[in-house]
Amino acid sequence: MIRPLDDTTVRRISSGQVITKVEDVVKELVENSIDAESTSIEVKLVGDGLTSITVKDNGVGIQECDRPAMAMRYHTSKLYKFEDLNIVETYGFRGEALNSICAVTESTQIITKTENDPVATLYTLDRSGKILDEKSMGSSPGTTVIAVKLFSNIPVRRQVAQKSTSTGKNVQNILITYALAHPHIRFSLKQTYENNSKIKFKEGDWIQPAMKNTMDAIIKLFGSELANDVQFCVWSSDAELIGTSENGNVDDDNNSNNLNNTQQFIITLEAVLPNPDADPYIIFKNGKTFIYVNNRPVTTNRGETKSLVSMVKSVYNEIARQNGWKGNIVIVMLDL
Ligand SMILES: Nc1ncnc2c1ncn2[C@@H]1O[C@H](COP(=O)(O)OP(=O)(O)O)[C@@H](O)[C@H]1O
Ligand SMILES: [Mg+2]
Repeated sequence: MIRPLDDTTVRRISSGQVITKVEDVVKELVENSIDAESTSIEVKLVGDGLTSITVKDNGVGIQECDRPAMAMRYHTSKLYKFEDLNIVETYGFRGEALNSICAVTESTQIITKTENDPVATLYTLDRSGKILDEKSMGSSPGTTVIAVKLFSNIPVRRQVAQKSTSTGKNVQNILITYALAHPHIRFSLKQTYENNSKIKFKEGDWIQPAMKNTMDAIIKLFGSELANDVQFCVWSSDAELIGTSENGNVDDDNNSNNLNNTQQFIITLEAVLPNPDADPYIIFKNGKTFIYVNNRPVTTNRGETKSLVSMVKSVYNEIARQNGWKGNIVIVMLDL
């Protein structure tokens, strides 16, 4: 159920989510789709995302009773009380994303259908997140959010975004980041642009099929050359969970267990690291760093996550130096 956060909670967490670019919209919508247990997430950018950004998922949909509040500021179905706040920073449940997106678009449309709904409903929202209009339509279960004319009311931000020549590539990289942490989800990106009202397809449409596990996702994304030179490792404060896994099958239930059971707080670290005998050239050529906390990519450059990231990197660099490895850490996933 979507509820308002109480005032104290709002004051504690409010940092004013700022949407400054197309990529920010995609990231927020993709996270919502992941939270909704989707197994397929399709992103479509028209006119580099400035004409429209569409994120379509096949997740659980939004319950009818929740829809009036879905894009209201600080309304969320994911965080109920103050005590949950210690997980807010890492999970980013602030009930702000849809509201912030509405505020910077000409209009935002949401099509949603739960498994109980006979038909889907298309909602058109205004800049404050209020429903302006709704109508029934045919659609499969899940949710589609369409952000129309991003920054139409903020000319300076729109101009900056128009100058960006790498939006599509950046969005693809965002999807790759999520695909590594959620290998069982199919991700796709389609880019079109409007030209005399005809839509032409650009090069660069991309699909990452659903994969069994992180290692398979690595093979598909970066090739078997790199995959052969890395391994999936797991460490845990719960001795039973320790080990290395051939394939990187992640126990998705860990998160909820950890959160509900604070008495036995279990920390699990999963990492994809170069093999001791890995070819440094291959690792160096392909080496990218992806760090996740609770399955969410860590991109912030401040606060605790910053020290966490630099701690992980310095430990890795020290091990790499001792072993004479060159190149980057590949992936670290931390479950708190
Ligand atoms: N793709 C989606 N599928 C199902 N529910 C969604 C989706 N996107 C948003 N919602 C619902 O709308 C609420 C508000 O979303 P958002 O503004 O991103 O806040 P938050 O993710 O912090 O809860 C969510 O809590 C969720 O209940
Ligand atoms: Mg959200």
